[in-house]
Amino acid sequence: MSDAEFRSEAFTDDPYPFYSRWRREAPMWWSDHLEAWVISRYAEVNKTLVDYRTFGQSLNSEAPLIESLERLPLGAMDPPKHTRVRGAINKDYRRGPIEERMRQLVERSVDRSLENLPTSGTFELKERYVRPVVREAIAGLMGTEDTDQLMHYYEQVMDYLKDGRVRAASPDRAELGRTAGRELMAYLRELREQKASQPGDDLLSEFVQRGMDAEDIDVVSAQVVMAGEESPTRGIATTLQALLSHPEQLARVRQDPDLVVPAFEEALRWVSPVQVKGRRALRPVVLGGVEIAEGQDVTALLGSANRDETKYAAPERFDVTRRNVDHMAFGAGIHVCLGAALSRLEAQLSIQKLLERYPRLELDPERPAIFEGLVFRGPTDVWVRV
Ligand code: HEM
Repeated sequence: MSDAEFRSEAFTDDPYPFYSRWRREAPMWWSDHLEAWVISRYAEVNKTLVDYRTFGQSLNSEAPLIESLERLPLGAMDPPKHTRVRGAINKDYRRGPIEERMRQLVERSVDRSLENLPTSGTFELKERYVRPVVREAIAGLMGTEDTDQLMHYYEQVMDYLKDGRVRAASPDRAELGRTAGRELMAYLRELREQKASQPGDDLLSEFVQRGMDAEDIDVVSAQVVMAGEESPTRGIATTLQALLSHPEQLARVRQDPDLVVPAFEEALRWVSPVQVKGRRALRPVVLGGVEIAEGQDVTALLGSANRDETKYAAPERFDVTRRNVDHMAFGAGIHVCLGAALSRLEAQLSIQKLLERYPRLELDPERPAIFEGLVFRGPTDVWVRV
């Protein structure tokens, strides 16, 4: 457990053996590189996410982006503001009509993306199939047909975020973050104004029509756009990769489609799309036998917690029949992911329909997948033959 390990190629290639050793030998250690406590066990990670009175949000690494959004996105808010905004969303988001609309939307985008896939030969699934499905779902939620335009603003934000949560951004990077945030916000504001005069049957119109505060709508929209694409894309790609590399489990899922969502949940535990979450201590606290001072940051390793051997038997094994997966891939506590239900729907429909369309789907042995990413993790690509 040292900063040199963080920077090593071996860690970037596969952080899991490092996580496993840290859980055993140093479940809480201070990193000068991250200027934060690195937390690797399930129990302590859970505590940092759930105990919001002790651990608040930490903005240092994303400050330039967040400044330019003009308001804090939902994921960066603490109570009481977070409680109010999240309460306003929940009221609307859980309503039946929106769920039904989402199902239609995801189904339509799955069918459309399936049509574009070849009937024979080899092709790549993550970029060619999974990402378009997920992108259309986000555009559908926001009520725009122009998925490319929305995703252009999103990509600018991702360009800024993808290099990892560095503590102090260089001036160039900070400027990139500011521009990305400003442009995304301007676009979302315009979209909201359109919905006020021409409402549709999307989530944004729903918020406008219910009289939700305009500023709140904008912060929620920004968060949905920023959070709703990369994680489900990686999560579904990981599930496909995992199933295709475990043919006996794939056979079970083919026989019993009710196992598609459990397979997705298990894949999220096995290789969590969001590997880390940061928080800041709002008061001094002792956690895992270590004293954390007020104002210190913590880096909660969700990916490591989800492989904790004190919680899961044979945690490195992908097993679609595992009971009570109860993972933290969607976070936990008051900030727990708002898009979990939508992600499950995307996974269920995209995987089930893909398997139905291709009864002999298998990995292309010539192009094995490589898992990459320390903040977001998943296979770089999933090459298959049909
Ligand atoms: C496999 C897919 C996904 C994974 C693994 C994932 C993971 C996460 C995680 C780890 C958090 C942070 C929880 C915390 O800080 O404690 C989060 C928050 C959030 N996610 Fe997701 N997410 C996924 C899909 C989505 C989708 C599709 C949407 C939007 C449609 C979405 C919207 C959000 C929002 C709005 C928050 C902030 C909630 C809050 O702060 O109250 N996510 N997600």
